[in-house]
Amino acid sequence: MRTSITALQKLVENNQKISVLTCYDATFATLLENAGIDVLLVGDSLGNVLQGEKTTLSVTLDNMIYHTRCVARGTDKVLIITDMPFGSYQISPEQAFENACKILAAGAQMVKIEGGHIMADTIQFLTRRGIPICAHIGLTPQSIHQLGGYKLQGNSEKSAKILLDDAKILERSGASILVMELIPATLAKKITQSLSIPTIGIGAGNSCSGQVLVLHDMLGLSQGKKPRFVKNFMADAQSIQEAVTNYADEVKAGLFPGNEHEF
Ligand code: KIV
Ligand code: NA
Repeated sequence: MRTSITALQKLVENNQKISVLTCYDATFATLLENAGIDVLLVGDSLGNVLQGEKTTLSVTLDNMIYHTRCVARGTDKVLIITDMPFGSYQISPEQAFENACKILAAGAQMVKIEGGHIMADTIQFLTRRGIPICAHIGLTPQSIHQLGGYKLQGNSEKSAKILLDDAKILERSGASILVMELIPATLAKKITQSLSIPTIGIGAGNSCSGQVLVLHDMLGLSQGKKPRFVKNFMADAQSIQEAVTNYADEVKAGLFPGNEHEF
């Protein structure tokens, strides 16, 4: 039996942090599961790290299905969350349901969709029909052309209020988990305290219920300027296994992210 959302909620109740990494293939999936990572996210960041694209916008539903299958085959314990790619859920709740079913059939136990209150109806539609949802707010890469770049979100009083309200609406709509990307640590703390569902942060400080990083980033493989919130766990490790174990341990111990990784 795989880790359930109930098991994740137990972790939160017992003040234990949730460790999440992105994963796209069977070999890494087995390694990550054996290293004690709680949740694997088949992220549409595969557009960047596997396909070499500048954005996630061109990732297809078939891409996500293929990589979900790969990750599912390599594991039997972790919870698998798969991103619904751009264009596969925004048209209507019906469109989202139809495509989410294909992702669950490929082996995911939950799907992630980007967006705030605008996604409330869709989340309600899916969760009432048996599809667990991970919501995603803050920097939402599928809206990159609207946001105007990979920059901190919720850093004004007004935008912070909107994010807090969005988070509450998404929980009320039935979301099981909330990912928060690139927002001030104080705001992420406030949102986490205002919700009963687990929050997973990336560039959102230390007070979230758990943390996620892109696998290639935390292994120091990604080229270019390293974002502030990324830590290269290979720097002090002799193997990939050790790097991943150290990540899980540091998340569990509340050591990662440190002050130097937050905004
Ligand atoms: O696609 C992805 O990797 C993600 C995480 C960074 C949250 O959505
Ligand atoms: Na994503």
